[in-house]
Amino acid sequence: MKTSNLKATPAGKKVAESFPVIEVSHLSKTYGKKSTAFKALDNINLKIFPGESVAIIGKSGSGKSTLMHLMALLDKPTSGTIKVLGINANKLKGKKLNRLRNKYFGFVFQQFFMNANDSVLENVLLPLKIGKISRFKRKKLALKALDIVDLENKAKNKATNLSGGQKQRVCIARAIVNNPKIIFADEPTGNLDSGTGKKIIDLLFGLNKKGTTLIIVTHDEDLAALCDRQIRIVDGEIVKESKQKAGYIRRTAIREGMKEDR
Ligand SMILES: Nc1ncnc2c1ncn2[C@@H]1O[C@H](COP(=O)(O)OP(=O)(O)O)[C@@H](O)[C@H]1O
Ligand SMILES: [Mg+2]
Repeated sequence: MKTSNLKATPAGKKVAESFPVIEVSHLSKTYGKKSTAFKALDNINLKIFPGESVAIIGKSGSGKSTLMHLMALLDKPTSGTIKVLGINANKLKGKKLNRLRNKYFGFVFQQFFMNANDSVLENVLLPLKIGKISRFKRKKLALKALDIVDLENKAKNKATNLSGGQKQRVCIARAIVNNPKIIFADEPTGNLDSGTGKKIIDLLFGLNKKGTTLIIVTHDEDLAALCDRQIRIVDGEIVKESKQKAGYIRRTAIREGMKEDR
């Protein structure tokens, strides 16, 4: 990427102007057929640039998760296109699609999806196993990811024996073990108390500060305000995209505050 295309945001981050990591055009999604048909998304257009933090915000049922699943290539749109790093994802299938997802994306969900009876280490190295990384290297990378979330000492524990906050930190370790370009987080603090949630938010924005693009789905206005950009969805349509300058100052202040909290 040419550095001449980079533009500094008020937060001091450099964001590439001309080459989106994700580009969504005329995206619609209808669930069900005929009498049960329900249009969950209607003509969504959206560009997300490298290094941005973007909140997709809206009430429950507005279509946030649907949009995230489509952008993360976990589901197919009814119409419209999604480009990931310039690649038209509509044309990808099977192995190629899985490879793209595995290489570039990390996922954090509200429900901390994990293999409960496997060890923490096994859970974290799963994306590397899928990516066919050697046994030695994947253990090393998984331990490094666990170190980042401060859980290296739990590597051998059964995942099921952890607290909610620890489980979500394992999920973050698993999301970053591949060194992804984009992290998708769907209500990442939804099942956590506010103190534990802060730690998760701090980790996610720490990764974003180092350059990972962060896409957070949330109904939490305070969490959304921490992001560079808020995309508001009502009944499957984008109603507002904001770039509030005051938000940057506030966000930085809150982030600094969070660090002191720990
Ligand atoms: N698999 C599905 N089949 C039918 N309707 C669905 C399905 N998934 C979501 N919906 C509906 O689509 C709408 C948007 O859902 P969702 O994207 O999960 O909203 P949000 O994440 O904003 O709460 C809701 O009305 C929901 O009931
Ligand atoms: Mg949802």
